[in-house]
Amino acid sequence: MIEVEGLTRYYGAKKAISDVTFQVKKGEILGLLGPNAAGKTTTMRILTCFMPPTSGKATVGGYDIFENSIDVRRITGYLPENPPLYMDMTTRDYLEFVARIKETPKDKLISEVDSVVEKAAIGDVQNRIIGKLSKGYKQRVGLAQSLLNNPQIVILDEPTVGLDPKQIIEIRDLIRNLKGDHTVILSSHILPEIEQTCERVVIINQGKVVAQDTPEELTRKLKGGEKVILQIEGSSEDIKKALKGIKGIDKMDIEKVKQGVSKIIIESDKDLRKDLAQKVVNSGLGLLELTVDKFTLEDIFLELTTKEEEVA
Ligand SMILES: Nc1ncnc2c1ncn2[C@@H]1O[C@H](COP(=O)(O)OP(=O)(O)O)[C@@H](O)[C@H]1O
Ligand SMILES: [Mg+2]
Repeated sequence: MIEVEGLTRYYGAKKAISDVTFQVKKGEILGLLGPNAAGKTTTMRILTCFMPPTSGKATVGGYDIFENSIDVRRITGYLPENPPLYMDMTTRDYLEFVARIKETPKDKLISEVDSVVEKAAIGDVQNRIIGKLSKGYKQRVGLAQSLLNNPQIVILDEPTVGLDPKQIIEIRDLIRNLKGDHTVILSSHILPEIEQTCERVVIINQGKVVAQDTPEELTRKLKGGEKVILQIEGSSEDIKKALKGIKGIDKMDIEKVKQGVSKIIIESDKDLRKDLAQKVVNSGLGLLELTVDKFTLEDIFLELTTKEEEVA
C-alpha cells in the first residue's frame, strides 16, 4: 500500500533523512519509532506530499508522490505534529470547514462530519470553541479532521505527545480501531506506545532506518543479543572450521577484508566474546580485532526509554 525507497532529504546542507526504505501493507498499522530529530516528521511530510524528498521515490496507494501528488493527498488523512486547528472556531464548524476544503460532496457533508465525530468520540464537544478544549480533546479533533472522507491511508505524527496517561490510552484505543479499515503510519519516540498499537515497527535514528520488525521480534532482539565483529588472520576455511564448534551462534557472516584477513560478524543472544577469542587463538589463527557492534538496538532502546520517562 505504501512503498518507500531510498528517501533522502536535505535541509540546506543538513541531511535530515538518508536512504529511508520500508513498506506498509494494506490495513496494517506501522509504527515509526525514533528519538527526537530522528527524521520521523520529515518522512511523514514527504509521504503526505507536504514537501518533496531530495532524492528517492515513494508510492502511496499506488500513486507516485511526484507524479500524482493530488491523488496521494486525496486518499491520505494527515495529523501533523502540531494539529492545524482554528482555535476560535467550534469543533463542528471547523470539521465542516475542513470537509469542504477536502471536497466532500455537499449532500454528504453532514453525515461525513457526524461519522468522524463518532469515530473520534468528540460528540460532547461539538459545539464548544476549540481553543477552550483540553489538550486531549484538541488532539481528538485533529484526529477527526484526518479521518474526513474515510481516507485509505492515515498518517499520524506523534499523536499522543503532551497528553496525560488517561488521554494517551483513549487516543491509543481510537487508533487501534482504525486497523483494517485504514492503513496507518504512526510516529512516536516511546517504545511501549508503539508496541501496544502497531503490528510492525520501523526504527529510525539520525535519519537512517536501523531496524524493522514486529514488536515481538524487536523486543526479543533488544533483550538479548549483540553483534560481535572479529578480524581474523587466516584462510576463511580455517576460520569457519575454528568457529564451527562454538555453541550459541545464531548467524555468522564472513567478509574478506584483504588477502588472508577476514571480517566475521556474529549474532547471538549470548555473550560469546570469551569463547570466540579462545577458539580463534587456540586454533593458531591471528586475532586482529574483536569488538561489539557499537550501534546495537539496545543503545537506541536506551535512548528511547530515557526519553519516555519525561512523559510517563
Ligand atoms: N525545516 C527545517 N529546516 C532545517 N532543518 C530541519 C527542518 N526540519 C527538520 N530539520 C532537521 O532535520 C532533522 C530531522 O527532523 P525531524 O524530521 O523533525 O525529526 P523527528 O520528527 O524525528 O523529531 C533534525 O535534525 C531537524 O533539526
Ligand atoms: Mg517530529
